[in-house]
Amino acid sequence: MSTGVEQTVAIIVGAGPSGLATAACFHQLSIPYIILEREDCIASLFYKKSYNRLHLHLTKNLCQLPHLPFPSSYPTYVPRPDFLKYLDDYATHFNIIPRFCNLVKCAKYDEDVKRWKVETEVEGGGVGWYEGRFMVVATGETSDVFIPEVDGLSEFKGEVIHSTQYKSGKGYENKNVLVVGSGNSGMEIALDLSEYGAKTSIVVRSPIHIVSRWSVNLGLMLLKIIPLHLVDSFLVLVNKVIYGDLTSYGIQRPPKEGPFAGKVRNGKYPIIDMGTTEKIKSGEIQVLPALKSIQAGGYEVVFENGSCHQFDVIIFATGFKRSTHMWLQGGDCLLNEDGLPKPMYPNHWKGENGLYCVGLARRGLYGAAMDAENIAQHIFKLI
Ligand SMILES: Cc1cc2nc3c(=O)[nH]c(=O)nc-3n(C[C@H](O)[C@H](O)[C@H](O)COP(=O)(O)OP(=O)(O)OC[C@H]3O[C@@H](n4cnc5c(N)ncnc54)[C@H](O)[C@@H]3O)c2cc1C
Ligand SMILES: *[C@@H]1O[C@H](CO)[C@@H](O)[C@H](O)[C@H]1NC(C)=O
Repeated sequence: MSTGVEQTVAIIVGAGPSGLATAACFHQLSIPYIILEREDCIASLFYKKSYNRLHLHLTKNLCQLPHLPFPSSYPTYVPRPDFLKYLDDYATHFNIIPRFCNLVKCAKYDEDVKRWKVETEVEGGGVGWYEGRFMVVATGETSDVFIPEVDGLSEFKGEVIHSTQYKSGKGYENKNVLVVGSGNSGMEIALDLSEYGAKTSIVVRSPIHIVSRWSVNLGLMLLKIIPLHLVDSFLVLVNKVIYGDLTSYGIQRPPKEGPFAGKVRNGKYPIIDMGTTEKIKSGEIQVLPALKSIQAGGYEVVFENGSCHQFDVIIFATGFKRSTHMWLQGGDCLLNEDGLPKPMYPNHWKGENGLYCVGLARRGLYGAAMDAENIAQHIFKLI
């Protein structure tokens, strides 16, 4: 059931915010493109794989996509439904019509004809073939869920989900719930669970920077005029005053690396506190050390320090990995094994033979918007 090969100038893989931003920039410069998306909707991460209470963490001026600002009526921190509405309007405005249910299985550069050849698996059966001079990887930093290997996990008698399956604490009232992973998702899911009356614990394995939302947004503004290490010192100081020493609750700050330095160097985002810290201090949320194994025939969760607890539910907020290397051939100069850019910022978006990536430099929506504009300008000059 193969259709013919569709020809275009640029092929974008992924219709999340990054792919949409790129499509809009192409539209503005009249660059023909095709956008391929494995799911049946745009921005599937926000539509299908995030929790209800989610708000964008940064102020709206830092989260809007190119050529169409957020409506002025939007609150400073955009809630999930409003963001989805904005993205829908964005796609309509720029006439972006993704080819949904097209999972890219293979993309390779054909030296002879100097074109990218892309093969997709179409949901419901069939394959799609596309060819273009340029190829844009917009599959996101969060394309595949990651759950670490835990001894005995398959024996666990309770419910196990990944954070992308969590919607709200409804249904978890009075249950013993363990959240594994103390990134932004894990911390906010723990808060949500606790507010719904779940007996909530969270695994905090390594040191983290907990920062207030206003301080991190102020810090981002300061970055424009003050060197990063000074902004980091400021953030650490301010947040020590706000939250105090949390060591006795099982939470330490990284001793050397500041909040922004950690993000830029290792992609370790600071934790923007939405109220979780207060619940940890009041004892409503318990902090536990790293997970070791599941024992007693699947009833007991054992932690690194030897303590054991029983849980009804385990929620893995352990993040994501990328599988770009599984489908992209000839992208070795641009992307590493983990699907992240090899060239250093600010040259991370451009590879060889007309290959580009957008939104993979750990700079959030703001970085994606910049990448999209750079890519469109670059291609515009070439054609
Ligand atoms: C819970 C949560 C909250 C977040 N909050 C913020 C925030 O407040 N601010 C911020 O800046 N960032 C936030 N992020 C980070 C977020 O990942 C990005 O900002 C944003 O989603 C990046 O968009 P993207 O288009 O690059 O990736 P994605 O939104 O992940 O989109 C990639 C798309 O590519 C598709 N795709 C993947 N592989 C294939 C394939 N092989 N073939 C076809 N299609 C494919 C996926 O289905 C997906 O639709 C958050 C992330 C999470 C998980
Ligand atoms: C293990 O760590 C938890 C949380 O920090 C603590 O409550 C518990 O007492 C510790 N158990 C042992 C055996 O050290």
